[in-house]
Order: sequence, then C-alpha cells, then structure tokens
Amino acid sequence: MKNTNQSFKICLRDRKELVELKKQLEERTRELEAKKTELNTKLKEAEEMRIATLNMMGDLDEALKELKTLDKLKAEFMNVAAHELKTPLTPMIAYIDMLITEKKGKITPRQKETLQIVFKNLERLKRLINDVLDISRLEAKAMKMAIKDVNITILLREAEEEYRPAIEKKKLKFITNIPSHLPNAKGDYGRLRQAVGNLLNNALKFTEKGTITLTVEADKDRIKVTVTDTGIGIKEKDEPKIFQKFYQAETSPERKAQGTGLGLPIVKGIIEAHKGKMFFSSKYGKGSTFGFYLPYK
Ligand SMILES: Nc1ncnc2c1ncn2[C@@H]1O[C@H](COP(=O)(O)OP(=O)(O)OP(=O)(O)O)[C@@H](O)[C@H]1O
Ligand SMILES: [Mg+2]
Repeated sequence: MKNTNQSFKICLRDRKELVELKKQLEERTRELEAKKTELNTKLKEAEEMRIATLNMMGDLDEALKELKTLDKLKAEFMNVAAHELKTPLTPMIAYIDMLITEKKGKITPRQKETLQIVFKNLERLKRLINDVLDISRLEAKAMKMAIKDVNITILLREAEEEYRPAIEKKKLKFITNIPSHLPNAKGDYGRLRQAVGNLLNNALKFTEKGTITLTVEADKDRIKVTVTDTGIGIKEKDEPKIFQKFYQAETSPERKAQGTGLGLPIVKGIIEAHKGKMFFSSKYGKGSTFGFYLPYK
C-alpha cells in the first residue's frame, strides 16, 4: 500500500515536472521560432544587401569602363588636335630658321633679334603641345613604348652632352658619374632620354650657383639614376604637389614663364610605365635630388 502511494506521488511529481517541462519546451520553441524568423529576416536583408552590392559593383564597373573610354577618347582627341596644331608649326619653324641663318638673304641684326624671339616662342609652343599630348597619353595609358635593350651609359652621356653647354654657361659645375659598363635596361630609349632631360632641365633652371651632379648606379636588379643640384630647393608645403600637372611652386615670374609644370608628371608617368619608381628629396634654400629606379626587365 505504502509502495503504491509512493509511486503515485512520484507519478504526480513527474507529471508536474512534465507539464513544467512541456511549458519550458513550448517557451523554447517559441523563442527558437522567433529567432528563426529574426534570422530569416536578417538573411533576407543580407541577400538584398548582396544583390545591392553586386548591382553597385556592376554600376561601378560600368562607370569605370566609361571613364576609361573617355580617357581614351580624350587622348585620341588630343592626338588629332596636337597633330593639327603641329602641322603648321613645323614649316613655320623651318622658315624662321632659314631667315635667321640668312638662307633667304641678308638680314639686319635687329631683324635677326626679332626673328630669334619668334623662333624661341614657336619652339616653346611646340614643346607645350608635345607635353600636353604626352601627359594625356600617359593618363590614358595610351603612350606607345618601343621597348628595347637600352644602353644607359650612351643615354646618359647623350643627355650630359646636351646639357653641359647650358650648365657651364650658367657658371655651374657639372659632375657626372657614368660608368662605361652598365647592364642594359629594358625600355623606350627616347622616352627615358626625355625623362632624364626633364630632370636636368629642372636642375639647370632652379640652380643659380654650385653644382649639378648626374649619377648612375647599378645593383643586381635595378638601375638608379640621380640628378642632384644645389639650387633653390622646394618648400615642405610644396613637396606633395610638385608631381601634379601644371603645378609650379611660387618662384620668380620669369622662372615660372620658363615652363608649364608638366615636366615632372611626365617623368613620373614614363618611369611608372617602365615599372620603375621615382624618388626625390629637397631642402629649401639648399638644393634638391630627383631620380628614379629602373628595373632591368
Ligand atoms: N630641381 C628642382 N629644384 C627646385 N624646384 C624644383 C626642381 N624641380 C622641380 N621643382 C619644382 O617643381 C615644379 C614642377 O616641376 P615641373 O618640371 O613639373 O614643371 P616646370 O619645370 O615648372 O615646367 P616644365 O617642366 O613644364 O617646363 C617646378 O615649377 C618647381 O617649383
Ligand atoms: Mg620642368
């Protein structure tokens, strides 16, 4: 009898517990259901976001393609415009040259002086057209490079020869460190020559006294070309801007008139198109160092 009572009690307790358990279970199920709904909503939101992101990426891709096309169109337009502008310029320069060198008859010194001014300005205009064309091609990655083995010694000696007269005319010392045997670099000879020329041109233009040094060093995987000057230097505030097109730091108006502010961006573009890297350092009032690394391949 005692036993039956006990088992009844147990049963009763079990039942109560069971009911409690059931309640808890129902509660958990409800919670889980709620969580599931919440998760589903989140999943839906995530999916919507994924689709929106994909759409945005598609739009961005489209915009990028359009920009590239526009850049190419701009370069093409510049090509045509530059060609049209250069066409009359070439014979004009040739005729003025004939007049100056008296191939068309004797001229007076005053006439010669005037013609020389015209000649200089025409040359300047030609350079400007070429520079604007170059920068637009570089920006559109449309500059054609004739990649060949480049003898850096020959290239630098040629640049030295071109600039030595003007540097020495300004009573500056020109030191060159160009070993006769260097490994060949790979690149476009004319474009690399233009890059070195632009750096020497700046060194000459922005130096009034002291020395300009042109150095080349070769290590196992790259060539380093450096142009150092003891010129006016660059203010720290101007340093981040000098590679921007058309930027010229505040200097005298005459010096500003001697350029357009395209030289350095062109050098940078050419060097980067050769997978090289530019560097520079400067101390205002003391001088500057500009140069680049060029990989062998
Ligand atoms: N060696 C240097 N010493 C001092 N300042 C320099 C030197 N090289 C460049 N700069 C500064 O950077 C600016 C930009 O140089 P960049 O060669 O692009 O243009 P630019 O020489 O003025 O004109 P361009 O090269 O078109 O004839 C210069 O105007 C000058 O302020
Ligand atoms: Mg320049």
